[in-house]
Amino acid sequence: MPVPSPSPTAPRPKREFNQTLMSLAPSAIREFFDLVTESEGIVSLGVGEPDFVTPWDVREHAIYTLERGATSYTSNLGLLELRREIAKYLEERFDLVYDPRTEILVTVGVSQGLDIAMRALLNPGDQVIYHEPCYVAYRPMIALAGGDPVSITVRYEDNFRIDLEKLESLITPRTRALLVNYPCNPTGATFSAEECRRVADIAERHDLTIVSDEVYAEMTYDQPHIAMPTQPGARERTVLLNGFSKAFAMTGWRIGFAAGPADIVAAMTKVFQFAMLSAPIMSQNAAIEALRRRHKDVPEMIEIYNQRRRVIVEGMRAIGIDCHMPEGAFYAFPCIRKFGLSSKDFCVRLLKEEKVAVVPGSGFGGEGEGFIRCAYAAGFDEIEFAIRGMERMINRL
Ligand SMILES: Cc1ncc(COP(=O)(O)O)c(C=O)c1O
Repeated sequence: MPVPSPSPTAPRPKREFNQTLMSLAPSAIREFFDLVTESEGIVSLGVGEPDFVTPWDVREHAIYTLERGATSYTSNLGLLELRREIAKYLEERFDLVYDPRTEILVTVGVSQGLDIAMRALLNPGDQVIYHEPCYVAYRPMIALAGGDPVSITVRYEDNFRIDLEKLESLITPRTRALLVNYPCNPTGATFSAEECRRVADIAERHDLTIVSDEVYAEMTYDQPHIAMPTQPGARERTVLLNGFSKAFAMTGWRIGFAAGPADIVAAMTKVFQFAMLSAPIMSQNAAIEALRRRHKDVPEMIEIYNQRRRVIVEGMRAIGIDCHMPEGAFYAFPCIRKFGLSSKDFCVRLLKEEKVAVVPGSGFGGEGEGFIRCAYAAGFDEIEFAIRGMERMINRL
């Protein structure tokens, strides 16, 4: 006999949830996107997701392996063939040498790499210093792993560079790790060679682990990306997180990897083997193909992002919006302070009046209030539509 669902007016049992979870602010971005999904005919520069479909030969290879019956679990670390391809890629592309047997773990996106890195590294109360505005998951992931998130704010006036002296001054005996992301979501700022060297030097002097989220490593436009573990003293203390979502246009496959010293990878694998067992084999097979072809479409996609970057920044400047030139990733983070609206009000009006979705900067923490994040993972026509919409709205203010 089916059990009838309870009446909507029946009192609900009082439930308790994890207190850290309950203390976290809900994602302002989610809240905003609920509004976007309720609206129709929207041009969105909101989501940090490539507008390209995964290259066909990658999809085809995944279909082929599936047809041949590759539907099983894999080793916790991931298919050895994929780890070998990742090792080759890291060496050829970023001058990094990792042992595919012990130093690379295939994860379910960088998101999961971040989660298990925090869970493997932190004891209750350990501090992790990270820079804000930042990717929305950092503070929650640190906190949910029992850590104490400590943020340093980066500012538009400083071109979103991290004040490394200030960062060093935040270190206490409880500090366990530095979490960095470059090129950065949402600011588009990246690290120069000198900044990388200084971060590594600070970590070494204070015996800290670096968790380096380099998911946008392929997307640097003005200078080559410098991987953190290449810096003197950094390799033995860095967990490098990267993946396929952005540069390879593979967000939905949920596939990424962590590379680091064998003891850290072993600790992360221990969490992973209980939490996940293995990343989906179909996605691992797709990733093998993406790397085997070093995917030939990537440079072309990056060049298109580069052109869009100039179009969006120049377009905004031309209508009087202050915007720095992002050095990497696919986000512009213009300043809207002078229009006298909060970033949320600006975005809600833009959405309602002009059908353009961009994300309130307040959702990224730090001094994100007063900014909006515009992802240029959208076609030129859409970027143009968004800029004209902003222009009309600003003129009405
Ligand atoms: C900085 C940063 N790290 C990690 C992620 C998550 O990446 P993945 O899709 O590999 O989980 C994102 C996605 O937007 C991001 O911007």
